[in-house]
Amino acid sequence: MPMTPERWSQTSSYAQEVFGVEPPHIRANRAMADAAGLPTWAITGEIGRFLALLAGATSGQLALEIGTLGGYSTLWLLEGLGPRGRVITIESVDTHADFAEAEFNRHGVADRIELRRGLACEVLPAIAKEVGPESVDVVFIDADKESYPEYYDATADLVASGGFLVIDNIFGTSTNWIDDLSDPGSAATDRMNRKAVEDDRFDTTGLFVRAGMLVARRR
Ligand SMILES: C[S@@+](CC[C@H](N)C(=O)[O-])C[C@H]1O[C@@H](n2cnc3c(N)ncnc32)[C@H](O)[C@@H]1O
Repeated sequence: MPMTPERWSQTSSYAQEVFGVEPPHIRANRAMADAAGLPTWAITGEIGRFLALLAGATSGQLALEIGTLGGYSTLWLLEGLGPRGRVITIESVDTHADFAEAEFNRHGVADRIELRRGLACEVLPAIAKEVGPESVDVVFIDADKESYPEYYDATADLVASGGFLVIDNIFGTSTNWIDDLSDPGSAATDRMNRKAVEDDRFDTTGLFVRAGMLVARRR
């Protein structure tokens, strides 16, 4: 069957319709974000379910996220970790952070989600010191692509044995793609991808789903 642009687009809609079903509070979060005019950069429902599925396969205690936006992926991570789970999430834009914190309060999960404001490169060292090595069940990286190699270096050792490191947009974004390495975001992502697959602390793959997702499991 030839894959036309229309067929890719219909398949994406089908995947979201069939596999992207959200619990009511997560559906409400997306609706609220749309109504508030937040950027439409959040992961889709079927990817949220994938994150939750990975989180559910761990000891279910702690996730660390870089790039909160409105809290959509944060809520999926918490959902997957289960009742004992906690998420630390980092966001540099105050309007996004304000929205997300209001959402965490509205859905009664604010006591289990800690939002750290600031540039991830600046706030990560303190978080790493607090949580310590091999303490995080899932790290999810979904922020500025130019910093991906730094984010990888700052978080890889925090992942617990059997835990996951998941990185979104490893093949591109709405503005750049991995076939053009003259773009600084693509070049940085390519550097990180090649480094990650050689890192013998992890079993790693790069999935060609949406804009690409790196999934690594700590040995
Ligand atoms: C793609 S969105 C995150 C979407 C979110 N993970 C979701 O799926 O619901 C990226 C977010 O990262 C934030 N961001 C960008 N650069 C950042 C940085 N250097 N430090 C912290 N956050 C950053 C942006 O403000 C934006 O809210």
